[in-house]
Amino acid sequence: MIRAIYPGTFDPITNGHIDIINRTANLFDEVIVAISANIKKEPFLNLEARLELANTIFKKNHNIKVKTFNGLLIDFAVNNKIKFIIRGLRAVSDFEYEFQLAGMNRNLDPNIETIFMPSSEKYANISSSLVKEVFLLGGDISSFVPKEVINKLKLQTVN
Ligand code: COA
Repeated sequence: MIRAIYPGTFDPITNGHIDIINRTANLFDEVIVAISANIKKEPFLNLEARLELANTIFKKNHNIKVKTFNGLLIDFAVNNKIKFIIRGLRAVSDFEYEFQLAGMNRNLDPNIETIFMPSSEKYANISSSLVKEVFLLGGDISSFVPKEVINKLKLQTVN
């Protein structure tokens, strides 16, 4: 079975991420959506909320699994016997950082390959931070995220 990881913070997961995950699932036997605890980003949604959202969104996709991880992505890949990391590229501005990340991961373990997937044009301008900002300022985010995400963000704001 050939598996790939799609890692990220997913704070929150957006239609842009979902597009990449679905397209990756057409190419591999199984895709693991790996949600990083990523304390340094001080996520708005806690890890459990991000996990629950991704599980709900992909519950009908038999070859998409969701897991969380702490620590190095490469260790997660090795521990789960996965040789491919998928990263989306939205614009040229993503490239430099992604190239560094891929290079560092390759230094850590040359047996694990990073594969870049171009984001679909309609999602090229979405980012999780912008989605949160628009939401917190009362804007409409319904074309950027599934309704489950909007509900979770609303809940988080009330609490
Ligand atoms: N559609 C929409 N948004 C996208 C996207 C797409 N196709 N692809 C990326 N993004 C967004 C993300 O939502 C995120 O937005 P934000 O900054 O507004 O939150 C941004 O692009 C990319 O953020 P970044 O922090 O670079 O990546 P990430 O959140 O996706 O995840 C990890 C980064 C978790 C993969 C990386 O930090 C990691 O591997 N951490 C584990 C520790 C480790 O191994 N460190 C050593 C690395 S060499």
